Amino acid sequence: MNLAVIGAGYVGLVTAAVFAELGNRVWVIEIDEEKLAKLQKGEVPFYEPGLAELVLKNLEKKRLSFTRAYSKAVPGAEVIFVCVGTPTKRGKVDLSAVYEATRELAENLKQPAIVALKSTVPPGINLKLEEWMRGFTQEEFELVSVPEFLREGKALEDTLSPHRVIIGANNTVAAEKLLSLHRGIGGERLVCSPTSAQLIKYAANAFLPTKISFANSIAVLCDKLGAEVESVIKGLGMDRRIGPEYLKAGLGYGGSCFPKDIEALTNIAKEAGYDFRILKAVKKTNQAQIKYFVGKVLRLSGGSLKGRVLTILGLSFKPETSDIREASSLYLIKALKKLGAKIRATDPAALKEAKKKIKGVAFFADPYQALKGADALLLVTEWEEYQKLDFEKVGQAMRTRVVVDGRNVYNQEELEKLGFAYEGIGK
Ligand code: UDX
Repeated sequence: MNLAVIGAGYVGLVTAAVFAELGNRVWVIEIDEEKLAKLQKGEVPFYEPGLAELVLKNLEKKRLSFTRAYSKAVPGAEVIFVCVGTPTKRGKVDLSAVYEATRELAENLKQPAIVALKSTVPPGINLKLEEWMRGFTQEEFELVSVPEFLREGKALEDTLSPHRVIIGANNTVAAEKLLSLHRGIGGERLVCSPTSAQLIKYAANAFLPTKISFANSIAVLCDKLGAEVESVIKGLGMDRRIGPEYLKAGLGYGGSCFPKDIEALTNIAKEAGYDFRILKAVKKTNQAQIKYFVGKVLRLSGGSLKGRVLTILGLSFKPETSDIREASSLYLIKALKKLGAKIRATDPAALKEAKKKIKGVAFFADPYQALKGADALLLVTEWEEYQKLDFEKVGQAMRTRVVVDGRNVYNQEELEKLGFAYEGIGK
């Protein structure tokens, strides 16, 4: 099939590369000139395992091309995916990129086509968007919604073998065409209305952080009641109705999706006349987790952080990514600096991003260097490298042997044997 994808961000580039790999002819439209120039040379502007190889391969096979011009990509495309960003600004979804993209798309339509929204958009937007697009074209088009559920770091796996493919289309011919386009991709299928599809996306991105905040609350209770979070969560997740995933307790969730989508759904509900109380509590619980962790650091440091040297291990919002958007590290560092601590930090992939965004912190590429003279090691992102540290060496580098484990990855007994004071969350 001939396809066009608007926006070469995470979602767009992965979608384009996967559909090209499945044998389709895909044009990608990118308006950022710098990014476009890189992509045309086969360079992927962000780190995602396997993606650069897939892009290069399909570029060489001429199944994948990049352009700034809608006039090159849109005419001839049977399905056009809209994959532009929809950031949340002051709690509201900013749809300006979606309106801009669909305007240019409509102006360049030369034949009937399916326009598939992959961008996360407020449920029920289709009628308004369709009317907007009809202002720029006489051609027939069907506006559908095919939400994306991929995780950073696992984008290809999630796109090729997703749990499900949700097709939000009122028109059965369009739904059939999308089903056939997704042949070769795993997972269950659900065809529903575009509004339902859009709400499924928000519901998923609100439910998963709800599970995480719930697990974090249980972890705090474990601390208070003397239970062990690992056993409690394991026993909880063994109930198949609950399931073991997204129950890992720690410093809380971050990233480009959960925080923004929780905020957006809270406001979408409010505008629809419903107070979504659970989501407000999920957000508050996530923020409180940082304070709770700071409390532990304070206690283990004798009640004051003035002049204390603290080393942060891990800055990205989760392992295997250089993305620091809404990362717990950002909020934690801010809180610790306010209390007078001196921060040293390290990360295997996110140092470049972090240096741009975080000021007044000493950055190191090597964790042992970062730990030199430290009064406490704070594990913030559970990169494998940090899980395998040589704690004899760590102890020699540090001034005071204190470990506060924000992701519950270290073995308390082993560390205590080496003379470390240790606290996890709920352990
Ligand atoms: C998420 C959704 O999983 C994905 O379906 C959606 O399309 C985009 O948002 P992503 O942001 O890449 O994906 O990260 P994910 O792996 O889901 O983790 C999100 C955050 O939750 C991370 O900060 C992670 O550390 C945290 N987390 C995750 C926990 O604290 N505990 C868990 O058990 C799981």
